Amino acid sequence: MDAIVIRRGETAPEIVGKPRPDPGPGEALVRTLRVGVDGTDYEVIRGSHGGYPAGEDHLVLGHEAVGVVAELPADAETDLEVGDVVVPTVRRPPAAGANGYFERGEADMAPPERTVERGIDGAHGFMAEYFTSPVEYLVSIPDDLAEWGFLVEPISISGKAIEHAAASRSAFEWTPESALVLGNGCLGLLTLAMLGRRGYDRTYCLGRRDRPDPTIDVIEHLGATYVDSRATPVDEIPEVYESVDFIYEATGYARHPFEAVEALAPNGVAALLGLPDSWAFEVDGGRLHEELVMHNKALVGSVNSNRRHFAAAVETLADLPSWLREDLVTGVYGREDYRRAFPDTFDGDERTIKTAVEFSTI
Ligand SMILES: NC(=O)c1ccc[n+]([C@@H]2O[C@H](COP(=O)([O-])OP(=O)(O)OC[C@H]3O[C@@H](n4cnc5c(N)ncnc54)[C@H](OP(=O)(O)O)[C@@H]3O)[C@@H](O)[C@H]2O)c1
Repeated sequence: MDAIVIRRGETAPEIVGKPRPDPGPGEALVRTLRVGVDGTDYEVIRGSHGGYPAGEDHLVLGHEAVGVVAELPADAETDLEVGDVVVPTVRRPPAAGANGYFERGEADMAPPERTVERGIDGAHGFMAEYFTSPVEYLVSIPDDLAEWGFLVEPISISGKAIEHAAASRSAFEWTPESALVLGNGCLGLLTLAMLGRRGYDRTYCLGRRDRPDPTIDVIEHLGATYVDSRATPVDEIPEVYESVDFIYEATGYARHPFEAVEALAPNGVAALLGLPDSWAFEVDGGRLHEELVMHNKALVGSVNSNRRHFAAAVETLADLPSWLREDLVTGVYGREDYRRAFPDTFDGDERTIKTAVEFSTI
């Protein structure tokens, strides 16, 4: 079967032939429909994040997948049936075996050394014609969402981060009205849409692009205000617009968490999602420390998501307007055309938001 991989020492993905995987005990065989590409994939390709499976010279890419159950284990305790459309979660137990995080269904809270991540860190991903997975890591979705199912994983990431940020404000009456999303990549735009549907009165989204740009069109179609970080850095947003109750960082730009402290309103919270490279720079640590304490502000880091977040994300996906899905997904390419799904690697000249590789159809 065809698989899209990154080899050790290479800087671009390639398509290779691999044997179709045989499901082990308790595992389903899944025929892949589509696999999305996101900012994390580029970090993996560049080698700045994640790692190869032990002893392997390549990593099968892809962690945002949707597929159809092709085979189930005979003795599986599952509600799944052959033909069901499913989305796989990303984390799996490390070679040492399951630990308490997995036993509690909270693999998303495991530190990196207690887990592997398919397509990202230490385990092959889903960018192949078939993949296998223990049935407990497959979440079913309605057939009519199959073509968009690769958006479930990123939506689940945001759902978890928003949940954890809100939980940090749950000890008092918190009634957020304004939200700022840092980053106009797919994660940022999906989150902007999710926040709009959660009743925020005023939403903002930060980017660094000139008009015309498809991401700015999406931001404005969602009723949010586009903020250009080149004209208005994050810590100047209170002066130009307003201090905001909630900030969601999805740029991976390492100054943003510190600038966000200044942009938050009293009692506000910022969720940090980005995965920056190492970068040393000066900040006034004393001032930030004092600002966090005296205004009851919080910074919450968030990575990955668990099965519960995936199940909630299926409902969120169904609830998103169809124009948004269509505008966000700027290209779906057959595997023979996979390079077009990685425009940042292969010098694509199109302005893309979200791309995916299609392996088969329902
Ligand atoms: N924590 C988690 O579980 C998790 C899960 C998925 C992704 N992530 C991380 O979250 C981040 C966002 O993901 P993504 O898939 O949306 O990535 P993406 O497509 O690369 O989007 C990042 C966006 O941020 C913008 N940006 C970067 N620096 C900026 C700056 N200084 N000012 C204004 N805009 C800036 C980029 O603008 P340009 O395109 O114009 O350069 C880009 O549109 C990545 O770092 C990714 O690794 C984390």
